[in-house]
This record gives sequence, structure tokens and C-alpha cells, in this order.
Amino acid sequence: MLINLSEQHSLVSNWMSEIRDVSTQNDRMRFRRNLERLGEVAAYEISKTLAWKEEEVTTPLGVSICKVLAQQPVLATILRAGLPLHQGLLNYFDRADNAFITAYRKHHRDGTFEISLDYVTSPELDGRILILADPMLATGASLVKTLQRLNGEGKPSEIHVVCAIASTVGIEYLKRNEPQVKIWCGAIDEELTAKSYIVPGLGDAGDLAFGMKLQN
Ligand code: URA
Repeated sequence: MLINLSEQHSLVSNWMSEIRDVSTQNDRMRFRRNLERLGEVAAYEISKTLAWKEEEVTTPLGVSICKVLAQQPVLATILRAGLPLHQGLLNYFDRADNAFITAYRKHHRDGTFEISLDYVTSPELDGRILILADPMLATGASLVKTLQRLNGEGKPSEIHVVCAIASTVGIEYLKRNEPQVKIWCGAIDEELTAKSYIVPGLGDAGDLAFGMKLQN
């Protein structure tokens, strides 16, 4: 399942336009907040697909039968670029458990790179709803590697991936390797550069949110 959250015109398309635009990107707070807002909308849309249970709630005047989430999800993200999107999801799924992973591109002299995963902290995932946030679904390699690593913590009952921009190549790679995953994105772009950056994309999401880093 693939859902493009800006397919129907909404505020999501405005936020997507701002995070792509070189003239507004230099406002880091706005860049982070737009990713956070996208995470909030994605959380709301995902919540419509999740199971609910009925609960008796005591009000000052009586008892109300309310619908509440049957189960809290686990929100996971890949440091550091995923943090604003993750925060948006957490603003809405405010009782969720959380998992964090570090993944980075380890570049080789010949221009190729491999994905290196270092730090992984996660609750038990068996039977849980896993929502993994990564702003840029480029090749899909880091997402697939992350999901395979998280599988070591148990088999989730359902997996949602939330990203700002997804490339068509990345979507196909993710579908091929993790067919059960539901993808929620803010936009879909067709191209990747030789260095696997999304075109037109937005540039480096981690640098735009948090500043330039030393190259590794
Ligand atoms: N990561 C980014 O930050 N940007 C891309 O275009 C691809 C991966």
C-alpha cells in the first residue's frame, strides 16, 4: 500500500513546497517544523487504519462509551534526519513506545557506499504496530536494512513507513524486500543522482534540519 499525502491538495502540499524551496530551506526551524507537521498528519491518517476498542469513561456527569486505540504503536526512526518527522508522529501518538537506530552511508573510494547500522535501541516488537520514520526514501537500502535489524526484536503485526519524499526506485525496492510495509509519503519523485540523492528532492534532510556535518 502506498499513500501520497499531498495527492489531494491540502496544507501538506504547502509544507512540501517549503521544505523543497531553496529560498525557505535556510530557515532550519521552519524546515524541522514542516517535517514535524507532516509527521502529525501522517499519524492522524495512519490512526484511521488502526484497530480501536471501546472503553467506559467516567465523566463528571455520567459514563461515556469511548473508542480508544486497541494498542499503542512503536515509533522508530533513523538518526539524525528522522528526528523531526518522529517528533510529529510522537506529538499525536503521545503514549507510543520508541525505537532509535543510527544508519549512515559508509562511502568507498570507488564512489559506492554501504549502509552501516550502529546503535539500535528498541522495545520488544512481537505483535506490535511499528511506524518507522525516515524523511528521504532514496534507494530504500537503509530502510530495508533497518527493518531487517528490527526484526531481530520480534515480528511486528503491521509496519508503516513514513517519509517526506519517496523515490520510485526506493518504493519498488522496499515493496520487493518488505512487501507487507505500508508507505505514507508527502511526495514521490522519479529520479536519483549517481550518489543516490533524490531529484528534484530537497537536498540533505539531516543537514537542513541540524546543520552540516563532517564527511565520513
Ligand atoms: N538523504 C537525503 O537527505 N536526501 C536525499 O536526497 C537522499 C537521502
